[in-house]
Amino acid sequence: MRVGVFDSGLGGLTVVDSITKLINGVEIFYIADTKFSPYGEKTKEQILKHSFDIANHLINEHKIDALVVACNTATSAAIKELRENFKNLIVIGTEPGLKPAINATKTNKIGVLATKATLCGNKYQDLLTNLASQNDIEVMQEPCLGLVKQIEDGLIEHDDTYIMLEKWLKPMKEKNVDTIVLGCTHYPLIKDLIKKILGDEIVLIETGHAIANRLEDLAKKQAIQFKENNSLHLFYTGIINTKMVDKIVPNFDECVKIEIKGRDE
Ligand code: DGL
Repeated sequence: MRVGVFDSGLGGLTVVDSITKLINGVEIFYIADTKFSPYGEKTKEQILKHSFDIANHLINEHKIDALVVACNTATSAAIKELRENFKNLIVIGTEPGLKPAINATKTNKIGVLATKATLCGNKYQDLLTNLASQNDIEVMQEPCLGLVKQIEDGLIEHDDTYIMLEKWLKPMKEKNVDTIVLGCTHYPLIKDLIKKILGDEIVLIETGHAIANRLEDLAKKQAIQFKENNSLHLFYTGIINTKMVDKIVPNFDECVKIEIKGRDE
């Protein structure tokens, strides 16, 4: 099974980590679109274009059987169009885990950390209207401006990152929020920092495992052949922090800079 996975940068590697822990026999081609990171502060049109350029590259160069959009922001902007356009491909997206958060909360107060583009997108807004209002849940959300860049720069333990997060999370703590949705695939990388501010008992909802399960189910349904072992090929379009890559997925086979044709913005 050949799987293409992409994100604006390192975040989608948290999804890759879940996939390789669950499935054996998958060949992963990962693109970190760091030339255009962060996606979360771009328009829907820009994100849509980047998503199509990358999907076409993965299909043409690597003959993938499945595409995993390991990015909440790109899913929000492009998943419908990707599915309509690539009908023969398994296409899996990433969405903020509002439903599991609603099931988990005891105080009926949840916090959602995601990018501006995800929070403003129709997909999230519809989900919020349906789920939160039905269940009498109070939702506090935060677009976390600048946080993806701190993570891309490997500044996870830096004071500035702590101060940034504290400013967003303290009001949630005061409101008695007991469950936080990590609505961006970069945020599992700062789980420890979130716990430092909100305490170990805070429930953090991430989606990597659910995506891996879905991929396995769909691949089996379509009788796609698994290989003997996993392999992981990493590509990036701008610059990448290799120390962070090593930390998240130490067992990669290659990590190479690429150019994707026809991109000039
Ligand atoms: N990791 C991404 C997400 O899940 C995108 C972050 C960004 O580039 O802003 O939304």
